[in-house]
Amino acid sequence: MIYNFSAGPAALPAPVLRQAAEELPDWHGTGMSVMEMSHRGRDFIGIAESAEASLRDLMDVPDDYRVLFLQGGATGQFAAIPMNLAQADGAADYVITGMWGKRAHGEGSKYLDRVNVAAIASPSTYVPPETHWQLTPDADYVHITLNETIQGVRFDHVPSVAAPIVADVSSMILSEPINVSDFGVLYAGAQKNIGPSGLVVVIVREDLLGRARASTPQVWNWLENAKSGSMINTPPTFGWYIAGLVFRWVADQGGVPAMAETNRRKAAKLYDAIDQSGFYANPVAPASRSLMNVPFTVAQPDLESVFVAEARSAGLVNLEGHRAVGGMRASIYNAMPEAGVDALIDFMKEFESRHG
Ligand SMILES: Cc1ncc(COP(=O)(O)O)c(C=O)c1O
Repeated sequence: MIYNFSAGPAALPAPVLRQAAEELPDWHGTGMSVMEMSHRGRDFIGIAESAEASLRDLMDVPDDYRVLFLQGGATGQFAAIPMNLAQADGAADYVITGMWGKRAHGEGSKYLDRVNVAAIASPSTYVPPETHWQLTPDADYVHITLNETIQGVRFDHVPSVAAPIVADVSSMILSEPINVSDFGVLYAGAQKNIGPSGLVVVIVREDLLGRARASTPQVWNWLENAKSGSMINTPPTFGWYIAGLVFRWVADQGGVPAMAETNRRKAAKLYDAIDQSGFYANPVAPASRSLMNVPFTVAQPDLESVFVAEARSAGLVNLEGHRAVGGMRASIYNAMPEAGVDALIDFMKEFESRHG
């Protein structure tokens, strides 16, 4: 048995992979795979619409929000956000709690004259309290990263600010309930809790459409995509199809509240094992700890490569931390069964008994 703790592209639910494998050569008697059918044909339109309907259902997306299935990953949206929401002389606030927020801010700075860091966590181990945020009065939006995948830092509530909140939810979408109407825009690269990489889901409030500057590339113009059903050009059809299968799987598990209950239990037992050991450590403030990405270190740094190698031999793979921060990281997205977390904890205890 292999448990894949990759941060992304990450493990997909086994029943989804089995269904995709079964349907690969001949989708529903059409004699072709989803990859081979026209995106404008009845079959794919059905797949696309049903995926969107499932996501709307799972997240309880209000009617005045549009759901887009686009390309270019979450990184494409780092640029699309300023282009769609503000003119070049506009302003935006970024709250930075880790590396992805930093990247979003860096990209935003290319397209806006006034890009303000309203708050930055240094080190990236907590969410700065809102009372310390320095917001721009006429900001077109405030950008936050609800879950920082690399440092494992999570917002435990939605901040209250005047400007529309744009939130990167790449590594936490569908892992716990999100009240969509608290946000102007939510966006998520698919490769953690949704499906294959390259696809990005954007959920945008209708009144924010139509603000794009004229130079916005067509493929990233939200209004044009909303009007064309995300089909300005050929969409990432196979990723969209797999996303639909994943959404159905989440619904079969009992939906997002049920996923959240399991996710909280999985995370709590892993953090407990780390905190109680004295051998492993996680630096994140308890209130800001991620439910999805759990970085940790061992007391002697030279043991980290030994840990990763021995874990791999035990079937626990992709536990190395992000190259920017080192250490280890267990990503425990929706598709990671609780048994995988139990196996990791058992291995950690056994490793400590030999090396601690
Ligand atoms: C929170 C977050 N935002 C953005 C990205 C970048 O996503 P992509 O590689 O799809 O551009 C990632 C990483 O995959 C991420 O974890």
